[in-house]
Amino acid sequence: MLILGIESSCDETGVALYDTAAGLLGHSVHSQIALHAEYGGVVPELASRDHVRRLLPMLKAVLSAHGLGVRDIEGIAYTQGPGLAGALLVGASVGTALGYALSVPVVGIHHLEAHLLSPLLAEPAPAFPFVALLVSGGHTQLMAVEAAGCYELLGETRDDAAGEAFDKTAKLLGLPYPGGPVLAQLAEEGDATRFKLPRPMLDQDNLDFSFSGLKTAVLTLTRQLGGNTAALSPKDKADIAAGFQEAIVDVLSAKCTRAITATGMSQLVVAGGVGANRRLRQRIDLAGEKSGFRVFYPPMELCTDNGAMIALAGAMRITEGQRGALPFNVRPRWDLGSLAAIGQ
Ligand code: KG4
Ligand code: ZN
Repeated sequence: MLILGIESSCDETGVALYDTAAGLLGHSVHSQIALHAEYGGVVPELASRDHVRRLLPMLKAVLSAHGLGVRDIEGIAYTQGPGLAGALLVGASVGTALGYALSVPVVGIHHLEAHLLSPLLAEPAPAFPFVALLVSGGHTQLMAVEAAGCYELLGETRDDAAGEAFDKTAKLLGLPYPGGPVLAQLAEEGDATRFKLPRPMLDQDNLDFSFSGLKTAVLTLTRQLGGNTAALSPKDKADIAAGFQEAIVDVLSAKCTRAITATGMSQLVVAGGVGANRRLRQRIDLAGEKSGFRVFYPPMELCTDNGAMIALAGAMRITEGQRGALPFNVRPRWDLGSLAAIGQ
């Protein structure tokens, strides 16, 4: 069965074709970084308009690259939430209209479920059950995943998400948008031991996180070093970036190990944009070796937002007979724990 996946929840337009027998056939992502860069962050209305411009041409290109036409599509999955309402509406209306015109099933997918299942697109893939660390721009959560569709929240951030902390700290250091990957790159040249930044909530016996204090600690440090970002030397900036990254990675890897111990599970999945962070991968792999659990990631290019993960989650739900209802809606806020199970 050929499933079309559509992602338009924020600032990436993604389309993908997933075949339930052959796997991922192809996908395409358009990033709006250049569009939002001059504003220093995502402008929701510009994001929606760009999704409108890109989505159909991208769909045509992906289909024709595989010698396929729109009539070959047998099911459609789109991101229904969480995300920006206007941006979500673009994928939801295109997906629903196309499904109606072709008389094929359509389902709305939870963006975080798609991130969390995305390691199933890699080799080797994890088997259920597993613990999942979801680290994206909007979320930092540890989940117990008993089966596809059964997600129990173990802990989450009480303020900023890890990706958000990367982005805000990058802005403080005067780095260009989007800050996370740029800060991570700078951190590779820095000395992580020069500045000792706090490890928020590391000592607390729970699986929650708090990252907003780290950003404040970086601001204080910047002031101590010279007053403002312009006064910082390139070495200062790289050392701060490295110290900041190490603090986040310390907390994330320690709490993953704790979640594994608490659940008695032996596999960890790391998904979401921050899962592309190389230092995080190194440290979590090391924790896994030490504590005896296996770690799974999506393929590197599928860590950040894409249509392939939406198509996969859609394929899993559509083949179980799940269907979206008309009239359709989007869910800018949506609790992952409230989803219907898949295949039970
Ligand atoms: O999952 P994602 O593409 O979008 C959301 O669903 O939020 O995640 C985007 C987030 C951004 O905050 C971005 O700065 C962060 O992931 N990110 C990184 C890296 N690559 C992306 N953060 C740290 N290191 C990276 N290499
Ligand atoms: Zn995402």
